Amino acid sequence: MIALGCDQGGFELKQEVIKYLQENQIAYKDYGSYDTSSVDYPIYARKVAHAILDGEAEKGILICGTGIGISIAANKIKGIRAALCSDCFSAQATREHNDANILCMGGRVVGPGLAVKIVDTFLHTEFSNAERHMRRIRLIEEE
Ligand code: RB5
Repeated sequence: MIALGCDQGGFELKQEVIKYLQENQIAYKDYGSYDTSSVDYPIYARKVAHAILDGEAEKGILICGTGIGISIAANKIKGIRAALCSDCFSAQATREHNDANILCMGGRVVGPGLAVKIVDTFLHTEFSNAERHMRRIRLIEEE
């Protein structure tokens, strides 16, 4: 299951992501927010992060206006590796190298066509399991 979260700046793009997930029969749960009214993005970052840490979701997707605030908030939570991506190369690399468990995007940064390709890449790329990448992830977790 994929956990989704956004604020008002990411709401519209999240609807596009939902359309992609439904068309591809990928299970998801939407943790809000559910409209374009002003909300505080750290709340949604936390909900999605905890869904992953609790084993409810496999991965998450978080979207705010820039993707920056929501990725900063998510990365404060131990065990979360949230990657802000605006291109498919980064989405692939962050899965292979960082074993990122949350994809962040900016609803005011990437268009819907590119965004769904980024999501598709992120969800379909496995971690490399290379020793050097595992070592670096362990070092991140030590902090
Ligand atoms: C909300 O206006 C905006 O600050 C938020 O969506 C995000 O871009 C923060 O980083």
